[in-house]
Amino acid sequence: MFGIRAPYPGNRPRRMRLDSFSRRMMQEHHLTVDMLIQPYFIVEGTNQRQAVPSMPGVDRLSIDLLVESATALHALGVPAIALFPVTEDDAKTDDCSGAWNPEGLLQRAVRTLKTALPELGIITDVALDPYSPHGHDGLMNEEGYIINDETVDALVRQALSHAEAGADIVAPSDMMDGRIGAIREALEAADHRNTRILSYAAKFASSFYGPFRDAVGASAALGKSNKNSYQIDPSNSDEAMHEIAADLQEGADMIMVKPGLPYLDIVRRARDTFAVPTYAYHVSGEYAMIKAAAAQGWIDEKAVVLETMMAFRRAGCDGVLTYYAHDVANWLKSC
Ligand code: PBG
Repeated sequence: MFGIRAPYPGNRPRRMRLDSFSRRMMQEHHLTVDMLIQPYFIVEGTNQRQAVPSMPGVDRLSIDLLVESATALHALGVPAIALFPVTEDDAKTDDCSGAWNPEGLLQRAVRTLKTALPELGIITDVALDPYSPHGHDGLMNEEGYIINDETVDALVRQALSHAEAGADIVAPSDMMDGRIGAIREALEAADHRNTRILSYAAKFASSFYGPFRDAVGASAALGKSNKNSYQIDPSNSDEAMHEIAADLQEGADMIMVKPGLPYLDIVRRARDTFAVPTYAYHVSGEYAMIKAAAAQGWIDEKAVVLETMMAFRRAGCDGVLTYYAHDVANWLKSC
C-alpha cells in the first residue's frame, strides 16, 4: 500500500487537496442521517419539559412532548430513538419489579410511539438502574454486591415486557454475564423472534456518565459507589473483545461501544475483529464538554460535532447514539 508513489516532488498530496471537487472525489467516509440514534429522557405527566442543567439543550419530556419531538425527528429521516425513563420514587423497589410493569412509564411510551410513528425504530434500555433505590444496574445483596444470576432473571422479564409493548430493539446496558443468551432464549420462546438485541457489549466503567446520572436522577442514590464490579476497566481492550465475542455467540444482533470518542480504538478493533453492525454511544459527558466549550466561544459547536461524527464513521461505526442526533440531522439537511 505504501511506497508505490514516487517520492517528493513526484508525489505532491496537496494537489488533490487543492480544489473542492478533487477533495470530494477522494472523500472516504460520509455522514448520513441513517447513522443517527437520538436518546430521550421521559418523565410522567403531560406537557412536561424539564431542562437538565449539566446537559444544556437536552430536556426530559413527558410522553406527549416526546411524540411531538420524535415526529419532527422522524420527518428528518432519523431511523431510531433510544428511550430512558426517569422514574418516580414509587417505581423503585429492591426487587426492581417496576422494570416489567406493563403500565410503567417506559412501556406506555413505547406503545404510544409505535401507534403514532410505527416506522420509527424504538430502542429500549434493559438495565435496572431506573428501578433500583440505589441506582445500580442490578439487584444488590446484603454486602452491597450486584448479584449476577438473579439480576439476569429480572432483566429477562424487563426485556420481555419491552418487546411486549412493541420495542423493536432491546438494548441491555447492564453488563451482567449471560444476559444476552437468556434474553434471546426468552424472546424466542415468547414468539418475539424479530426483536433485535443491541448489546452494550463493551461498556466501560467511565467517568463520562456523570450528566446522564443527573438527568435520570441517579447521582444522589449512587453517591460515592461505583460500577467497577460489572462495567469494564478503562485500561482493558482484550476484555472488551471477549465480551463482544460472548454476546455475539449468545445472540446479539448489534453491538455498542460506550463511551464513544475516547474509545474509538475499541470500535476499530471490534469492527476489524467481528465485522458486525457496530455502534458507539457518544455519552453525556462528551456532549457536556462540547456544550461547555461552545458556550464559552472556545470552539465552533457545529464544526466540532460534525467532525466528531466523522471520527466515529472513520473508526468503523455504522451508527452513533448521540444527544446531538437531532441537530446533526438538521445540519445534514442544510449542507
Ligand atoms: C445505565 C446507563 C448509563 C448510561 C446509559 N445507561 C450510566 C451508567 O452506567 O451509570 C450513560 C449514558 C450517558 O452518559 O450518556 N444503564
